[in-house]
Amino acid sequence: MTIRETLIERATNIRPKAYAPYSKFWVGSALITTDGEIFEGVNYENASYGLTICAERNAIGTMVTAGGKQIAGLAVATENGVTPCGACRQVMIEFAGDDYPVYIVNTTTGEVKDATVRQLLPEFFDSSQLPE
Ligand code: THU
Repeated sequence: MTIRETLIERATNIRPKAYAPYSKFWVGSALITTDGEIFEGVNYENASYGLTICAERNAIGTMVTAGGKQIAGLAVATENGVTPCGACRQVMIEFAGDDYPVYIVNTTTGEVKDATVRQLLPEFFDSSQLPE
């Protein structure tokens, strides 16, 4: 199985664990680091709606907690194959050494759109733009 296939499968399989009682929009994500470690995440919502955490940022938080520094690929799985939200794109860029593939999975059709994190957020802000 390729890394692409593994990430797609892991994001799809973790998706039912999402805690999304308000939106009922369950999202699963899986990423691999440049060290070859895989981390998963799901979205989790709150009665105070604005506190919701997306699946992608949850997976990244788990990676950071385990000491991971750089992402080499990430998959996100939803019932309709939507692309990551703007907040997640910015957080996804923070851990891109250069660029990395993003696999956008539609779990209903099985279709996967291939993108890269820089394609998703071309005009990004990062640490190189901060004053010294
Ligand atoms: N959501 C994600 O987990 N990732 C995205 O990229 C888009 C949105 C979640 C947040 C919320 O729990 C639900 O989807 C509906 O917005």
